[in-house]
Amino acid sequence: MAQRIHLIAAARPNFMKVAPLWHALAGAGGFEPVLVHTGQHYDSNMSDAFFADLRLPAPHYHLGVGSGSHAEQTGGVMMAYEKVALADRPDWLVVVGDVNSTAACAMVGAKLGLQTVHLEAGLRSRDRRMPEEVNRLVTDALCDVLWTPSPDADANLRAEGVPDARITRVGNIMIDSFELVRPEIEAAGVPEELGLERGGYGVVTLHRPSNVDDPVALLKLVEALIEAQRRLPLVFPVHPRTARKLRGALFDSKLARAGVRLVEPLSYVRFMSLVAGAAAAITDSGGIQEETTYLGLPCLTLRENTERPVTLTEGTNRLVGPETLLLELDRALAAPPASRRPDRWDGKTAARCVDDLRRRAAPARLPTSRNPDELARAYSGAERRVSAGSSYRRSS
Ligand code: UD1
Repeated sequence: MAQRIHLIAAARPNFMKVAPLWHALAGAGGFEPVLVHTGQHYDSNMSDAFFADLRLPAPHYHLGVGSGSHAEQTGGVMMAYEKVALADRPDWLVVVGDVNSTAACAMVGAKLGLQTVHLEAGLRSRDRRMPEEVNRLVTDALCDVLWTPSPDADANLRAEGVPDARITRVGNIMIDSFELVRPEIEAAGVPEELGLERGGYGVVTLHRPSNVDDPVALLKLVEALIEAQRRLPLVFPVHPRTARKLRGALFDSKLARAGVRLVEPLSYVRFMSLVAGAAAAITDSGGIQEETTYLGLPCLTLRENTERPVTLTEGTNRLVGPETLLLELDRALAAPPASRRPDRWDGKTAARCVDDLRRRAAPARLPTSRNPDELARAYSGAERRVSAGSSYRRSS
């Protein structure tokens, strides 16, 4: 019988991590991948556009959780996913990345005794002020199998006492997404569409709470970007969180007056087309640090630390602050940093994940509660809620 795999999709960066694995599992035989969208990101340009670009089917389950405080979002996903997992118990639960939905579903999986896997495990910024760092620690502590992208991630897990048997270095799944739709990216022509000269502009993204939530910190970044714009025309696809903060402080018009092009968030293919044609990226994203290393393009990361150190040691990434952005941009433009592609960043990560699942023994579908009556009640209650179609829908 086919192994039923729940893949948790939630937010923009995770759609790119889930897509190659979904395709690999669907094509491998012996697996039945089931896509669960928690609804953490819901705008069409933050979600639907990515499903279309990455040729993902409509999610089998949509939990519709949406925005809220960290506790509201995490708790909302836990309550909604628990119902799904009880009613349609998977053989494996795969969570990816480090967003709130990742930790929430890992917690549900661990408590229900599901076999759980974390894709992109072991990354550590060692900065617990980042909500994602808390999510990484929780998720890795709970998941049975840890699929890592790089040797530093393996070392972090070992230092936390994780036995080798739980770790498989599969490589970087984001590179698989790029290779999956490379022809579409190459054909998209977004720089030309925006009237930009290839190799003659910079791409900006910002969304970390530490950068955008405090107006004083945000102003420093806005001023640094205005300086940078004097060196290199900048295009800035603006995340909804950042758009609200910029608008609230009237910084959007300040940037626009200085010539920075503010545009709506772009789909995956269009965004990668823009990045691939750029001279440099200025960002606080995790994924862009990796994509620019793969493309050999300078990346200036507006953060104090990174959970992706391999992009510094082997790639094109540099950590900068508002005070050092201009200097580092000048350096990068004058002499782009040399880079080599880290080991197993080769577009074959999803295939390694499938091999690893096959290699590991088929999990037993064991209930975890020690009390059979309680367990029976939980199951029948969940089934009733599911048939009533309460907080989510099943679309296929
Ligand atoms: C989340 C992830 C972050 C990831 C980022 C990519 C966590 C803790 N953070 O942060 O790791 O890098 O996604 O974008 O999980 N909003 C919309 N439409 C949407 C989604 C969000 O308007 O489709 C607005 C909402 O007002 C929301 C705000 O953006 O309050 C922030 O969204 P949220 O999902 O809470 O966190 P991100 O900042 O996107």
